[in-house]
Amino acid sequence: MDRYAIQGGEPLVGEVQIGGAKNASLAILAAAVMTDSKVNIENVPDVTDVNVLLKAMERIGVKVERPDRHTVVMDSSNIDSCVIDDEYIKRIRASYYLVGALLGKTRQAEVPLPGGCNIGVRAIDQHIKGFKALGAKVRIQHGCIIADADELRGNHVFFDKVSVGATINIMMAACLAVGKTIIENAAKEPHVVDLANFLNSMGANIKGAGTDVIRIKGVEKLHGTTYAVIPDQIEAGTFMLASAATHGDVMVRGVIPKHLESITAKLCEIGCHVTEYDDAVRVSAPEPLTSTQVKTLPYPGFPTDMQPQITVALGLAQGTSIVTEGIFENRFKYVEELIRMGASIKVEGNMAVITGVQKYTGASISAPDLRAGAALVIAALAAEGETIIEDTSFIERGYEAFEVKLRELGARIERISSDKDLTKFHLRFA
Ligand code: UD1
Repeated sequence: MDRYAIQGGEPLVGEVQIGGAKNASLAILAAAVMTDSKVNIENVPDVTDVNVLLKAMERIGVKVERPDRHTVVMDSSNIDSCVIDDEYIKRIRASYYLVGALLGKTRQAEVPLPGGCNIGVRAIDQHIKGFKALGAKVRIQHGCIIADADELRGNHVFFDKVSVGATINIMMAACLAVGKTIIENAAKEPHVVDLANFLNSMGANIKGAGTDVIRIKGVEKLHGTTYAVIPDQIEAGTFMLASAATHGDVMVRGVIPKHLESITAKLCEIGCHVTEYDDAVRVSAPEPLTSTQVKTLPYPGFPTDMQPQITVALGLAQGTSIVTEGIFENRFKYVEELIRMGASIKVEGNMAVITGVQKYTGASISAPDLRAGAALVIAALAAEGETIIEDTSFIERGYEAFEVKLRELGARIERISSDKDLTKFHLRFA
């Protein structure tokens, strides 16, 4: 299993180019099976979650081509099964988007219950409620969600909880239902809007995405399209926080600054300078950072997927900060690893009370999940001495060429697979 070796203590300086959004890509690729025509999707990141989803779709007869690293061409005219392969898909959360997509297209779907990051219970009751409201029969059997319908009919769906996944799933199925669907208390995340734009470019009739009421008029069928995925707001935010924690100066390019506003606001509060350009943000961070309070919330609130990264930065800020996790119940597991690096953090329920320390020190740690893994890399970059991070495959689920991009900003980081690699790393940096 690969590890990262990191020699910390260097501020990150330079420019980084952000790729396409992983979460938008997963929704869009799943939705692309809903047409029999060819679909050309650009700006897709080359990350494990995306590749696993594509593999699972190939297994049901979708033809997938990758004319270049970031373009996917899909032809779903010959799907021969609506049963998704267990082995591949259980590894990722977004597998369940295939329920909405296949149910919309073929009126049946059988998909293993999702895996993904181990950050909480991650119920699917709102998805099931939505599918049932559209007239589908849904049951959970042998670890799979099985859904089928003679006919899907538009309906009024009121979510009890704001859920990105449920909003996306019901939006997909409703596109090809008969009549009108109104989703209330819908999620407003940028990738919900991106998916709606993608589906509309295939001939769907969706209005209101980005607000909490989405109106969908069902259409008979969808046609082919060419579409470019939005930039990854979480990848961008991760580099912004890496700049903050290492007291660096990083220009984060290829972003939509509006999507980063909640992150930008917190960085300003803790003393960073953030300059917004049309499609870039520059973050520079003087010493010391100052404390603040953060609560993760659905968009446009501060994203839960940025919670570990900001906690890492606040661990180095003067004073006491409080981070409250408002979305998932088990998202502070990485704090144990951070404490081993010298952080002073107390977790009580869904709240972390952070007393800033002057520095972290390198240690041997492991990445417990995708975003926490990235956050621990940030901690290691800021730390004095060497850190070895195990289980980097979690990080590769959502970050393309993470260590390459960091090296281009001056980070001393290498991916190592053997003791020989580690010796080379020591010769180079120690
Ligand atoms: C998506 C993102 C994930 C992000 C999360 C919140 C993808 C592939 N994943 O996950 O990176 O952290 O949004 O922004 O886009 N819930 C229920 N019942 C349901 C559905 C959800 O109780 O039927 C709860 C969940 O347990 C969680 C909260 O609602 O506490 C939010 O979950 P949701 O927005 O659905 O997250 P995901 O779509 O799984």
